Amino acid sequence: MDYTPLFSNVVRRAKASAIRELLKVIAQPDIISFAGGLPAPDLFPSEEIADIMQKVIKEHPEASLQYGSTEGHAALKEELISLLKKTENISVTADNLLIVSASQQALDMTARLFVNPGESIITASPTYLGALQAFQVAGADIIGAESDAYGVLPESVEAHLTALEKRGKRCKFIYLVPDFQNPTGTTIPEARRVKLLALAQKYDTFILEDSPYRQIRFEGVSPRTFYALDGGRGNVITMFTFSKVFVPGFRLGFIVAPADVIRKYVILKQAMDLCTSSVLQLATAQYLRLGHLQAHIKDLITCYREKRDLMLKTLAEVMPKTISWTRPEGGLFLWLTLPQHMDATALLPKAIAHKVAYVAGVDFYPDGKARNDMRLNFSYSSKEQIVDGLKRLAQTIKENM
Ligand SMILES: Cc1ncc(COP(=O)(O)O)c(C=O)c1O
Repeated sequence: MDYTPLFSNVVRRAKASAIRELLKVIAQPDIISFAGGLPAPDLFPSEEIADIMQKVIKEHPEASLQYGSTEGHAALKEELISLLKKTENISVTADNLLIVSASQQALDMTARLFVNPGESIITASPTYLGALQAFQVAGADIIGAESDAYGVLPESVEAHLTALEKRGKRCKFIYLVPDFQNPTGTTIPEARRVKLLALAQKYDTFILEDSPYRQIRFEGVSPRTFYALDGGRGNVITMFTFSKVFVPGFRLGFIVAPADVIRKYVILKQAMDLCTSSVLQLATAQYLRLGHLQAHIKDLITCYREKRDLMLKTLAEVMPKTISWTRPEGGLFLWLTLPQHMDATALLPKAIAHKVAYVAGVDFYPDGKARNDMRLNFSYSSKEQIVDGLKRLAQTIKENM
């Protein structure tokens, strides 16, 4: 039977994630991959997690193995409320929080909650491709605003907001990854955040703040979050995830939003998956209660800082002078720009033939046009692999210049 005529418009719109597809190709052990956004597996706190899981199940067999509420477990919410207060000076109640199956679910839900097919949203260009995928599935008209070394340009965002207004349309939300952005590694300074927030207020929309890398800062001082800067006026919805600072396999994150908006998310989540895993929520609550998270983040910072430094040093040694790259103050990625005439998408099969992989910039642009840039991840590979992989990449680039 031919299923093609049966598929919905949603499926017709959906494009496979380039990274998820690429990860299959580069799974061979001899390929050095700078492509995924994977945390270093040797740092996973597996012993601690195994101990906690055993204890949680033994001590709370029913709560951990039973269905939980859609909103999320009170024990985890309690920990999150104090964590937000302590680390971000954000005051919220349990009604402002929804526990989700990591931030990809939050992105999908946000698109479903706010966007009808054809309605407009603004994102930085380039931006996280998984967000583009979720927004595309919802049928959003995705408008990319220009960015520089400090993230999205408020002038560009405002130009798009004005243009929409002139057409009698409203921007449903502005999606931003403000800290160590995926893919470029750039961070929006506080003064620029204030301007962007003022735009959201002026044009009666909200900023969707997605910040999985914020806690992984190697140097310098964090600007305040959009949520904190907004001061409860309601022009920001924030999402956090435990994927990058703890373990992605738990698929755990949370949304912070006004209580009436959280109620709408809850109804949507009821239809999607009833609730997020009880045992994983309780184990994470216990991990937080024991104070392990802050210690673990310190280890991540030390390791990733060394890897970033090694990547920057090696790039300077092996790359031709016409190549440039960003110098992120944290996170997992940097962004490399080839000479104007080169196409990073066309170069990728040649790099894979040299046993090294990256993600071509094209996948991060809302307009989908091929370009001369690429994302490199420095958290996953070992130090030896970083040096060898960059040599292979430099060789590929030189042969194709
Ligand atoms: C900016 C951003 N948002 C969301 C996600 C999704 O992460 P998760 O669903 O594991 O929380 C990622 C993953 O790389 C990301 O970089």
